[in-house]
Amino acid sequence: MNFQNYFKNQIVLITGSGRGIGLEIAKEYLNHGAKVVALDINIKKLISLKKKYKNKILIEKLDLSNLNYFKNYLKNIPKNFKNINILINNAGMKSGKNLIDTNINDLNNLINVNSIKVLEISRILMSFSLKKNKGKIINIGSSLSSHGAVFRAQGGGSDYSVTKSMVHIITKIMAYECAKFKINVNAIAPGIIQTPMHARSISETEKKHLNKIPLNRIGLPRDITGTALFLGSNYSSYITGQIIHVNGGMLMIG
Ligand SMILES: NC(=O)c1ccc[n+]([C@@H]2O[C@H](COP(=O)([O-])OP(=O)(O)OC[C@H]3O[C@@H](n4cnc5c(N)ncnc54)[C@H](O)[C@@H]3O)[C@@H](O)[C@H]2O)c1
Repeated sequence: MNFQNYFKNQIVLITGSGRGIGLEIAKEYLNHGAKVVALDINIKKLISLKKKYKNKILIEKLDLSNLNYFKNYLKNIPKNFKNINILINNAGMKSGKNLIDTNINDLNNLINVNSIKVLEISRILMSFSLKKNKGKIINIGSSLSSHGAVFRAQGGGSDYSVTKSMVHIITKIMAYECAKFKINVNAIAPGIIQTPMHARSISETEKKHLNKIPLNRIGLPRDITGTALFLGSNYSSYITGQIIHVNGGMLMIG
């Protein structure tokens, strides 16, 4: 089977695609023929990607906290990018703090970016194009954190964990609501993936986590892309409301 141009007529909007997992997903969709709308606060790496993929990718420096900007942006998006049929809610952040060291403003901001924006961006995109296109929504949750940061050595505290639990619940409830529009809604729950979010070297990550991972290696962003393509493809058309854990076996549930 040739998957090279599988996504030829598809347009994928990916939040937080300026680095890490989102950037890798953007590259993989582009490599499989899709057009990509790539959004992030930091677009440095996306500028290089644009040089390579030219008119296949639209990039925009956009803070998801400002939804007015987002709505205006969509309104003025070039015609050949308007027909978005896959939304990937990937943008996320973590404080890495213990609850006692956080404050209410930080907590509100984290919940807003990691969870509420998943609902809001999905809501906007549903009426913008997903409903018409019987599209797909893929949310990025978290395998371990959503289970209460089960491993003591994990960086994410209770603030991050609650936001990712919300993403998983949102995914299931949205799947019910979206079923009547024939929109599939699923989540990918990554385990420990080496990205700038952790702000540490892979050997430090290995020291912290390797002995708990049955497949005996730390995940890389490209370990997530296969599932992201699968959930955006017609091969997953009978799957909705599911949380797919991609974690090297670190947490086995279900
Ligand atoms: N790396 C891991 O181990 C891991 C594990 C589980 C889940 N995740 C989730 O995967 C997703 C991607 O994380 P990553 O590891 O690639 O992290 P990352 O920090 O490398 O990338 C996150 C991206 O989101 C962007 N972003 C953050 N807030 C934003 C906002 N308000 N508006 C626009 N863009 C914003 C950042 O600029 C960054 O480019 C996140 O949702 C994260 O919670 C990561």
